[in-house]
Amino acid sequence: MTVQRYEEAYDDPHYEEKLAEFEARIARGEKIEPDDWMPPEYRRQLIRLIQQHANSELIGALPEGTWIPYAPTFKRKMALVAKVQDEVGHAQLLYRAAETLGKPREQMVEELLNGKSKWSNVFAYPAETWADVAIIAWLIDAAAIINQTIMATGSYAPYCRALKRIIYEESFHIKHGYEMIVTMVSGTKRQRDMVQEALNRWWEPIMMFFGPPDKLSVHTRTLQRWGVKPKTNDEQRQEFLSKYVPQIWELGLEIPDPNLRYDENLGRWVYTEPDWDIFFRVINGDGPMSKERIAVRRLAYEEGRWVREALESLAKRVLTQPEPTGIVA
Ligand SMILES: [Fe+2]
Ligand SMILES: [Fe+2]
Repeated sequence: MTVQRYEEAYDDPHYEEKLAEFEARIARGEKIEPDDWMPPEYRRQLIRLIQQHANSELIGALPEGTWIPYAPTFKRKMALVAKVQDEVGHAQLLYRAAETLGKPREQMVEELLNGKSKWSNVFAYPAETWADVAIIAWLIDAAAIINQTIMATGSYAPYCRALKRIIYEESFHIKHGYEMIVTMVSGTKRQRDMVQEALNRWWEPIMMFFGPPDKLSVHTRTLQRWGVKPKTNDEQRQEFLSKYVPQIWELGLEIPDPNLRYDENLGRWVYTEPDWDIFFRVINGDGPMSKERIAVRRLAYEEGRWVREALESLAKRVLTQPEPTGIVA
């Protein structure tokens, strides 16, 4: 199965008919499996989304991973190691889901390393203190789970199945992050200040996490109809604010946006619009840590080359071995 083969679907004389049937299936709430007919644009957008999601899980393991040797207690270290390992596992599940759409994993790895494929803006920032690790585990995982829960209601079955397992683990990450935050805000003034400073640093990147406002988004309506992206960026951002702003305030923390409030008349949260130029610069590879993150991935990829090669040659040898002719008792 190759992506190119499916581009030919546009030349299919029955394209309109098949598209109508495909849309009717989605409207009935059916899920699409890898061998089912799908419009090339559906495949292209899904690959793009799942690949970016996979990249984000893989790169997302790095800001926290850096802190493993400095975890304040053994218990925290064990939890952090487990979380980082989960995130790398999420990347594997997602690359696998993207592969079912016909894109080879090697190509996806290459596109991550050469900057052709994007990853989430939030991981291009440094985790400066232990409080940053707590904010990431609580609020960035919270933002991620909002996005993933919505995506899990989408129409592509392999992605939904991967997300189901991922969400289960992410919800545990949030508990781990929240518990770290509660411990620190109930500690000394210095610990509390650390959390507040970390929140100040991360607030704008988190607001940007859901992507640019709907008015700047190009494909939203078709993607929604096809169940590729069941809710818009703004809807996801509003959901995050409704769920987490009250919790942040309850802990006595201040959100660094004087305009943030829930507007009863509008029925939604109003806030200072983040600087979207910064967002676009960051996702295009110009964030404070973008180059370093990719350099670490490249090093890991190069250092793991011998393992991939050894496994490949072993697989070849096993596959080319002649069938046993009889059983020796
Ligand atoms: Fe994850
Ligand atoms: Fe997570």
